[in-house]
Amino acid sequence: MTRTAFQTADFTAVPVDDNDTHVLQPLLDRCEDYHQIAYGRPALPDQARNIPRERPPTLAPGQGHLFALRDAQSGLAGMLEALRDFPAPGEWYIGLLLLAPEARGHGRGEAVLSAYADYARVNGGRLLRVAVVEHNDVGRRFWTRVGFQPEQWVGPIEQGLRMNRVLKMTKSLG
Ligand SMILES: CC(C)(COP(=O)(O)OP(=O)(O)OC[C@H]1O[C@@H](n2cnc3c(N)ncnc32)[C@H](O)[C@@H]1OP(=O)(O)O)[C@@H](O)C(=O)NCCC(=O)NCCS
Repeated sequence: MTRTAFQTADFTAVPVDDNDTHVLQPLLDRCEDYHQIAYGRPALPDQARNIPRERPPTLAPGQGHLFALRDAQSGLAGMLEALRDFPAPGEWYIGLLLLAPEARGHGRGEAVLSAYADYARVNGGRLLRVAVVEHNDVGRRFWTRVGFQPEQWVGPIEQGLRMNRVLKMTKSLG
């Protein structure tokens, strides 16, 4: 039976267990544009498999959220990676919202964000935070449009082959 965390008009968010994260690799491979902007190279061959290992070591079980966004035919159209109650209770941190290139530009990212915000709210979330790399103009426009406000610049930090300044942005769920 497929477990569902939340749903939008187009997608079902299905939790991905830590042992199964390799199922996301084809999506990462198809999103070379994003990986070039963030890391200066395509996704690494084992990048999806490594997602659980890249979480902060202090997390309790269940704090790491990873969802496959599946379309009506069960095709992999996107993913959402986040941490609940990190770094503080009630603060939820979105690591990556990534849609397959052909799924973008139809308001579906906004629908996912809105459904995830509802999911966070009913589970005690008070604030969403995201960190956007300096040269991700599309991403920054997206987070601004869906109600995020700049909080703080951090870095430059080493990400793959790049040294990125990163803008932390927040949205209150109040
Ligand atoms: C960022 C991302 C998730 C946004 O998702 P999305 O579904 O494409 O976002 P939207 O459809 O809401 O907005 C994208 C564009 O489509 C337009 N759009 C929104 N609704 C639309 C609709 N119903 N029909 C046509 N266009 C629409 C928006 O105006 C926007 O254009 P603009 O940025 O030039 O103003 C997606 O682009 C993505 O996966 N990017 C790569 C990964 C990334 O950068 N993630 C963020 C960093 S964590």
